[in-house]
Amino acid sequence: MNTPNGSSSLVYELYCSKCNTKYNYNEKQSFATCCEKPLLFSYSLAKGTSKEILNLANKSIWRYAPFLPILSQKNFVSLGEGLTPTIKLEFLGNHINIPELFLKDETNNPTGSFKARGISVAVSKLKELGIKKCIIPTAGNAGGALAAYCAKANIEATIIMPNHTPKVFKDECMLYGANLLFVDGLINDCGNKAKELNKNGEYFDVSTLKEPYRLEGKKIMGYEIAEYFNWDLPDYIFYPAGGGTGLIGIWKAFKELIELGWIKNKLPKMIAVQSSSCAPIQEAFNDPINWKQKFTPEASIANGLAVPYPFGMDLMLNVIKESNGAICTIQETEIKENVLLFSKKEGILISPEGAATYMALSQFQKNGIITKEHRVLLLNTGSGYKYIENVI
Ligand SMILES: Cc1ncc(COP(=O)(O)O)c(C=O)c1O
Ligand SMILES: [Zn+2]
Repeated sequence: MNTPNGSSSLVYELYCSKCNTKYNYNEKQSFATCCEKPLLFSYSLAKGTSKEILNLANKSIWRYAPFLPILSQKNFVSLGEGLTPTIKLEFLGNHINIPELFLKDETNNPTGSFKARGISVAVSKLKELGIKKCIIPTAGNAGGALAAYCAKANIEATIIMPNHTPKVFKDECMLYGANLLFVDGLINDCGNKAKELNKNGEYFDVSTLKEPYRLEGKKIMGYEIAEYFNWDLPDYIFYPAGGGTGLIGIWKAFKELIELGWIKNKLPKMIAVQSSSCAPIQEAFNDPINWKQKFTPEASIANGLAVPYPFGMDLMLNVIKESNGAICTIQETEIKENVLLFSKKEGILISPEGAATYMALSQFQKNGIITKEHRVLLLNTGSGYKYIENVI
């Protein structure tokens, strides 16, 4: 373990997110079969734990290694993911009169998105468990990340993505040596294809929240946000939610930080941002019983937001409820306009997913909900360079 004092991971339990049934964290696990819900790790977190437990010399997610479920340091598969910059948005902040407006920019991650964080931890776990083959349905970014980390760990990766995904996402998987398949449809159709290929259980399925490791890597965004703001969190966080691991992970981190006593109880309101082409969280919030019957999901220029039936829906709704947050749905044309606004006014070629968060903030500002007194953080979850054909 790479903590300065040589301590190991603080993993305490792995449990069903619905009924708390415990699962063995030393064995390969997928999801909680008792309730067909995601599994969650918990850690032995004691109030008063010193921050010396962190390895601050490490400039990646692994500075927080005690709060990650990898038991031995020799299994860390790292390409330098995490510890991304937070940038003050001077122009856009002035533009809507929110002077304390910040962007956590995930562009600099390996393969250009926050997906590197979760995939680093998942592939480390595969290495720890001696697993040699994995499969993933993806909207693009997670596939690229899996291909790169599996190349580094000498694990075979099979990646299934929608046919309409921009070319760069496809090319990078091939360059990293992964097997690549295309499906006409959205990520749920890719998920069905993955299930079909894996009917004999030959592969480890790395689908969002169908295994508990990626969430832990994504959660480190929450630790980094707290560290950046000197353990005094912003009032609002706007997050582009697809499968939901980022939203759920950041919130999980904040709760762990409260247990550690590193932050106060005042937590941000979490705003889940969706595209009007595919807004299942909004639909499920509006009509929890019948939403699937009337739902007609379509592709989005923010490819990562087109996740029609997220496995972690209950957990996302819970974050919104517990944080007193909200869901905000943005039109496709607005997403595109906001990509251009960021590039022309802030010098950042943002992902369409990230651009949607600023549009959402503008709505809250116009409605008078967010004012100049609030400190606001937007998440840009990936680089816009891979999406150029979607926005030009
Ligand atoms: C750039 C980007 N942002 C956001 C998301 C949504 O991710 P999640 O809701 O699982 O955190 C994705 C997923 O593909 C993505 O690629
Ligand atoms: Zn259960």
